[in-house]
Amino acid sequence: MFSKEDFFNHSIKTHLFFLRILKEHLYFISISSTKKNENLTNEAKQLNNRFNNLLNKALYIAAGNFNITSDAITKYTLEAEKATARLSGETIDTDLTSYELSLINRSPSNTNHLSLIHSLVTLNKEAIELTEELIAFNKKIINLVNSCKIFLNTHPLQLENMMKETIYYLNILSQLENRGNENNYKGIIYTESFWNIIMKEHAEFIRSLLDPSENDLIHCVNLYSNLYENLKKETQMINNINLLKQITAKSMQITSEFKDFLEEGIKGILECNIKSFIQPLLADHALREANYYLYLLNKITNHS
Ligand SMILES: [Fe+2]
Repeated sequence: MFSKEDFFNHSIKTHLFFLRILKEHLYFISISSTKKNENLTNEAKQLNNRFNNLLNKALYIAAGNFNITSDAITKYTLEAEKATARLSGETIDTDLTSYELSLINRSPSNTNHLSLIHSLVTLNKEAIELTEELIAFNKKIINLVNSCKIFLNTHPLQLENMMKETIYYLNILSQLENRGNENNYKGIIYTESFWNIIMKEHAEFIRSLLDPSENDLIHCVNLYSNLYENLKKETQMINNINLLKQITAKSMQITSEFKDFLEEGIKGILECNIKSFIQPLLADHALREANYYLYLLNKITNHS
């Protein structure tokens, strides 16, 4: 069971990470869409706007009350957004990103967290409704792509990966509604199984988005895919707490190295030194997800 302060911190942390991630998923769908799918593109843009508005609300609650970290936004995010908008011709609300960056060094306002709980409960409810809509939208797109009724310049695996992350967010929101705490043995195995699969898929779609001439990077990202595949199998075999601790430590080591690889990737893409189909914002997005997984692994390690 969460204390009110834990509820505040856990809720706001979750929103700041996932609301940006989900609005970007919608952006990626809209820029990978073709002229023929104008209705779906517009639907993606409308949902993107609504997630942008929710992120704005979350930032209003977080301002001066919460430490914003590199899973929510990185030092590359703003530049990645500007570059991606310039390349795709599709605008991004960079003002919101500048605002979020301005909050990083804001000194705490000493607001009583309890007074913000009411706004947060409302935000959680709005986020649940909107995320349920997004899941329905994701399902529709995946069905259309998999039945060859529409074409998107995106791998089906990436669409599935986005869907999994959306459902995961909804699960956390439901736990928050019930003031549940996921940091038990079963919860930890679920968290690590989930994120090891997500990281493996990121390695796999990055591999397929790199230009075939980028041999060294393809080789390197392929190693990460294999490492996460092994971790996935090992996580399925966990049957005691000591083994769980070993796998957590291994996940931490691999993910911190993968995070460094992704950080070199975003730098290389922004400097135009990597040949690929990877949008700069997608590279930053993948880096934030690795940062978030590292945050979760640190939390697990410190509590066990
Ligand atoms: Fe994602």
